[in-house]
Parts: sequence; C-alpha cells; structure tokens
Amino acid sequence: MNNIAQIIKQVLFDVFAVDHDIHLSRPDEQFGDYATNIALQVAKSLGKNPREVAESLAAKLRETTIFTDVNIAGPGFINLRVSATSLVRELEQQWGDRFGENQSGAGKTVVVEYPSPNMAKPYSVGHLRPGNQGWAVKRLMEATGWKVITDNHLGDYGAPFGVWVTGFLKLSSEAALERDGVYELGRVYIATKQALKEEKERGESVLADEVQQWLIKLENGDEQAKSFSERFNRISLAHIHTVMNRLKISTDYELGEAFFAPYGKAAVQKLLETGVAVQNDDGSIIVPLDDYGFDVPLLVQKSNGAALYATSDLATILYREEHWHPDKVIYCVGAEQQFYFTQLFAMAKKLGITTDLYHLWFGFIDQLNDDGTRAKMSSRKGVILMEELLDKAEQRARSVVAERDVSDEDIKKIALGAIKFSDFSADRRTNILFDWDSIFALTGYSGPYIQYAAVRVNKILGDNIDTEPAETSEYDYEAEKAVLAKLLGYPEVVTLAATSIEPHKVATYLHELAREMNRYYESTPVAMGDVTVTQKWARLGVLKKVSHVFTHGLDLLGIEIPSRM
Ligand code: ARG
Repeated sequence: MNNIAQIIKQVLFDVFAVDHDIHLSRPDEQFGDYATNIALQVAKSLGKNPREVAESLAAKLRETTIFTDVNIAGPGFINLRVSATSLVRELEQQWGDRFGENQSGAGKTVVVEYPSPNMAKPYSVGHLRPGNQGWAVKRLMEATGWKVITDNHLGDYGAPFGVWVTGFLKLSSEAALERDGVYELGRVYIATKQALKEEKERGESVLADEVQQWLIKLENGDEQAKSFSERFNRISLAHIHTVMNRLKISTDYELGEAFFAPYGKAAVQKLLETGVAVQNDDGSIIVPLDDYGFDVPLLVQKSNGAALYATSDLATILYREEHWHPDKVIYCVGAEQQFYFTQLFAMAKKLGITTDLYHLWFGFIDQLNDDGTRAKMSSRKGVILMEELLDKAEQRARSVVAERDVSDEDIKKIALGAIKFSDFSADRRTNILFDWDSIFALTGYSGPYIQYAAVRVNKILGDNIDTEPAETSEYDYEAEKAVLAKLLGYPEVVTLAATSIEPHKVATYLHELAREMNRYYESTPVAMGDVTVTQKWARLGVLKKVSHVFTHGLDLLGIEIPSRM
C-alpha cells in the first residue's frame, strides 16, 4: 500500500474507527487520478448509507493537502486528484535501489521447480514455458523477500537408457554420435520407439527384451552399460545446459528422477506403514483417493516391484521436506500433467504433509498455419527444437534492426526478449499464439517494443550525463504526471504478480509504462529543443526512475535491455 492509500486508511480510521486496507484503482483521466470503493465496502459492513459514508470521508480527505480534488461518483465511489508535485514527493519517499521490492515473504522458503526436461531427446519448445515462467516466478519470489531454492527435476531415469543403447547399436555409429551428439541420440530414440511399437503390434518382443537386458545390466553395474549410460547422459546434460544458458536460466539444484530412484522403496514403505497405501493381491501398491474425490487410485509400485513416476515424485517431496523445510513448492509443468499433480498432492496430504504444493501449469503454444487456422506449434519434422527456435529468433532480430550497427550480444537480447515476452502475453493458462511477426513488432504488445522504449530512455540519459543539476523545486511536473502515477503503481504490481504467481502482470504493466513513455515523448521535449535547465534536470530525474523500473521489471521476466537497437 502506498502513502496515498495509507492516508485514506488513516482518515477511514479517524472517522469510522474501521481498520481496512485501501485498494486504489485508476479511473478514467477525466474523473481523477485515483479512485476507491472503500465507502461502499464500509457502508455495507456498518449498515450505513454509502453515499453518506463517502461524504464524510471526502470532507476529511479535502482537509489534507495532498489532494487537489475529491469528488463522489455514483453510489459512493470516491475519485481523487492529486498534484503532480505530491506524486513526485511520494515517489521520492519510496525510492531506493530496490524500489518495487518488499519483504512480505521474509522468513519463508519456496522451492521452484523448472524446467525439468527429459534427457532422451533434444530440448524442445515443450519445455519453453516451464523454464521461462519458472525463472520469472523465482525472481518474483526473491523480490518479495522469500528464500528461493530452484531445482531442475530432470527426467533422467528408466527405460530411455535401454532404448538408447539398443537403438544406438543397431541404427547409429560412433561417427554419427560424435557429429550430432544429442540430436543423434534423439533420432535413435524416436526411431527405436517406433520400431518397438511396430514389433509389439506384430506380437514380437526381440527388441523389447534387448531394452530390458540393458536396463538390468545397468542395475547390476555392468561396465559396458555404465560407460554407455555415463556417456549418453553427459552428452544430453551438456545439451540441456547449453539451451538453458542460451535462455539465460539456471537452477540451484539438478536433482532428477535418477537421484530419487534409490529413495523410492523407502517412500512406498512409509505409505504402507501409515496405511495411506494398500497392496493388491498381484503385489502392486496403490493409494486410494476416493476420499479426495478421485475414483482412480494412484499407482506407486507395479506388480513386478518396479517404481513409477509418482514413486519418484513422492520420494522427492519427502526429500525436500527433510532437507529444505519449504513453506511452498511450485511445480512449473505443462497442463497435460494437471490430473497427475492433483492426485500427487492429495497423496501428500494423506501422508500428513501440510506444505503448500502448487502446480503452475501452462496452456499450449499455438502457431498460425498458412491457411490462417491455429494449431499446436510443430514443424514438418515434428516437435520444434529449442535451439532451432532460438536460431530463427536471432535471424529475425537481425532483420528487425536491419542495417543499424547492433552487436551480436544485443541481437541475442532482442531475440530472447521477443520469445520470452510472448510467453507472458496472457494469463498462463490460455494457449498463446506464437506468431513471428507480432512477437517482434516494434509497435505492438511485444518484448522488443518495451526494450526499444527502454533503450530510448537510456539513450537520452546517456547523452546527458553531464547535465548540471538545477534546482527542481520550481518545477511543476505536470507533463510527467501520468508517468509518475504509473511508476508509483509498480510496487503493487510486483506484489500482486508474486502473490498470485502470475508473472504476466508485470509484462502488462511494463507495456503500459512503455506506452505512457511514448505518449510523453510525443508531447514533451526532455533534453533537447525548447527546455530550461530546470525542466531538463527535473525531466531527466524522472527518466532515471523510468529506466530503473524498466530494467527491474524486465529483469523479473528474465529479459535484458540491449545497449542499442
Ligand atoms: N520431466 C517431466 C516432463 O517433461 C516433468 C517433470 C515435472 N516435475 C515433477 N516433479 N514431476 O514431463
């Protein structure tokens, strides 16, 4: 809550002895700078006439010096106008290097899990949203004072290894592996899976047996199997790191499924001992969840004793409880696994785990087909690989800046800015449309649009570092009023985005700030042309703050500002 809200809160308390937080909205400009419906809320709880409540509050608010106009609209909305100079004063009071941040999460620990790709195939766009949103969530939680532990829950265990070796020996070669690395492993994996499927349809199991044999060999510590496994995993993990580096994301830990495999048995044992799980006659072990509204139980051990995805997740939950004592765990994983996670979380509850487990899921990434219809993003070859997408984005970024002299470093920032921002273009649950033209549009709702606005601000600041400070108390800041009001709204946006775990709210805000800035430039000369020293200095002061908020806000989304574009 900012000072303006604080003042209203105090007045409310003085007049009605009611302690209530104030939420300020931004009405249409003709009505005022801020509006509140607090009179309606209070009238309801006190059983009074809302209009009368509003009148009494307004009378008191007019006595304060901060408001230049207080009026009542409709049944009891209070519209407030403040002077531009009071906005500056307000901003100065709140200002600091960490403007926008708060400590509301202090003392609490959150585990954020992302991007958790699978090792068997190259990194595809399927893991773009988990990584991207996960990173933003990490940054938002940090900005609100939480202790954040990030963990990459790699899909690095089980059958894929057997498929890899079987396929590699039949379909590949050292030379091909040397040349194409993970892309060769991915090719081999997909081809072998296909062959396994065909074999099964024919009622045969030669390949399948071979896959099993390799898995058993690995379990028994066979040297050749171990060497294959280490080599393939090394290649795949190096690739995952390359992609994550290009995406500018990282995690504190990388405790994947393989890490938790040895804990599976004990975890299932615990389920049995506590009566949360029951063993069927065939030896399989399930957790009935009918008391949680699911008629399908969760299978945690197969009849042959083999562990499952859920087993490893259960072990993961127990491990995190024991070692990290989190207050909250945020799983950044696609929408396909929604049902699974509700089951998993219900099981955890049955086991007495009270930690807030949260599945942060995402809609799909769609693309426009040539005929204008919309479909899940893919290429003729199948899934789109992350490196292909990044390469293509860099080409696009290059064409956006055309002949201008922009460094490779900056090109990469623009490419990433476009891709990442498009991910935040709507509520995360909706499918997003990935359209190359609009994600790079310098005039629309895009990352580069905001980056460009920020570059412009920074350019003016850079060109004027030598400007002599002038006395700014003479200046009225009327021309900057809208920008100032926008800046003042930033801390609340960060709070809201963090508490609702919706990073796209920061994106929406930044776009509005960029628009406000562009409007401002059109009407106001900042440092060139017809400006006095006082005006120039005061205006540069506001721009400095705008620059700070652009940098801070984009950083929350994992987007950097190029030095030129
Ligand atoms: N590797 C999985 C996948 O790509 C995601 C893992 C999600 N995290 C978890 N704890 N199950 O589908």
